[in-house]
Amino acid sequence: LASIEVNVAALEPGMSLTVKWRGKPVFIRNRTQKEIEEANAVALADLKDPVARNANLPAEAEATGVDRSGGEGKENWIVMIGSCTHLGCVPLGQAGDFGGWFCPCHGSHYDTAGRIRKGPAPQNLAIPTFTFTSDTVIRIG
Ligand code: FES
Repeated sequence: LASIEVNVAALEPGMSLTVKWRGKPVFIRNRTQKEIEEANAVALADLKDPVARNANLPAEAEATGVDRSGGEGKENWIVMIGSCTHLGCVPLGQAGDFGGWFCPCHGSHYDTAGRIRKGPAPQNLAIPTFTFTSDTVIRIG
């Protein structure tokens, strides 16, 4: 299937869901206010990869908290491919030194916006094309 629709009505803040899309895991997380604020507080200069890597935005978009999320008004939502940008392992959620995701294969730490902060991975976790078709349904692809 080219695209899938995911109902996220049951995902309270702090809850995540993993779905399969084009053979890959896609992480969907309803971030807590604390996670949003932690991500927004990071200066772009402190990021290993300052590019948003968000298929919904221009290629040069910066990796701000909002541009790594569902966008204005949907900053709580994170949708990204669950494949480590080092060698493709599946990172673990709510783990690692930055409270986001941790790849146990070789120790890559991603923050609460899925941005690489420490370890061998070269890029932020990729954000696929997605859109909200309603307040509670996300279409991926
Ligand atoms: Fe994730 Fe190597 S595959 S750190």
